[in-house]
Amino acid sequence: ITRIGVFTSGGDSPGMNAAIRAAVRTAIYKGKKVTGIYHGYQGMIDNSMFDMDSPSVSSIIQQGGTILKTARCMEFKTVEGRAKAYENVKAAGIDALVAIGGDGTFTGAEIFSREYDIPMMCIPGTIDNDLNGTDLTIGYDTANNTVIEAIDKIRDTAASHNRLFFVEVMGRDSGCIALNAGIAGGAEAILLPEKDTAIEELIDMLSQGADSNKSSMIVIVAEGDKNGGATDVAKRVKEKFDNFDTKVSILGHLQRGGSPSSADRVLATRMGYYAVNELLKGNSRATVGIRGSEIVTTPLEEALSKKELKLNEDLVEIAKIMAI
Ligand code: F6P
Repeated sequence: ITRIGVFTSGGDSPGMNAAIRAAVRTAIYKGKKVTGIYHGYQGMIDNSMFDMDSPSVSSIIQQGGTILKTARCMEFKTVEGRAKAYENVKAAGIDALVAIGGDGTFTGAEIFSREYDIPMMCIPGTIDNDLNGTDLTIGYDTANNTVIEAIDKIRDTAASHNRLFFVEVMGRDSGCIALNAGIAGGAEAILLPEKDTAIEELIDMLSQGADSNKSSMIVIVAEGDKNGGATDVAKRVKEKFDNFDTKVSILGHLQRGGSPSSADRVLATRMGYYAVNELLKGNSRATVGIRGSEIVTTPLEEALSKKELKLNEDLVEIAKIMAI
């Protein structure tokens, strides 16, 4: 391996820059050249690449988003798109790739690396924490902190006005953010995509809160919950709680931004370093991840095929008890 291409793909997450920095600096330290690829797989197809050196990643560890930009690329899903991408990658002299992103990024890497026999290592970067092969994804901790800050602020006004708030959080089909932020923010109920909570059950939980004279109640609704979003849930529950003024708050994309937490910076740095070292050792078509405190790798095929539930059942139980 003489030149490593680095890119970010899919939804951005806080800490991606720290991972880019770590991969670039590790590669340079090991005497390799580095090419930055803009806009993920799209940049490969469009030949949007540039040479990176150590100063090109200065002062980015604290920045949210990704200096390499990102995209969700439909063209890369086609054989023709990937052929174009490979031509450009080859012409740039890139003989190994580090991909930072989520599920779609991993799928693209698995296919591309198999089709063209190019070494690739993935780094899990998404706020959703929905990837197999790792306990934690880069950006998840920061997103949780952002959500908790928002819930705390909502609690202040909710308590002052006797309000019942429905707060919708991101996570796609995963309830990780909802569960963790719900516990940390003291939510009265949490609706998770992994648990089919019926509206009647939610009404029961909130009735208990109302009966114990709570001055405010906050329900966290994961965007992937089967009952629909926070707006729909609020509509169906509202009339049962006329002592409370009902409000809805959809946190949206603010959950994706901001300076990465210390935990995300360190995780991203470890993963970036490890991904390059693994490539240089001959590992490929795999993702780095963290298990407990150890950095590990998992073949992409395995990471993509498993559908293991990431929700911690103890936390689900604890959340219920804490809400009484
Ligand atoms: O995967 C990260 C994520 O923020 C999800 O939580 C959310 O469902 C989705 O991306 C939103 O995608 P977009 O930024 O394309 O609207």
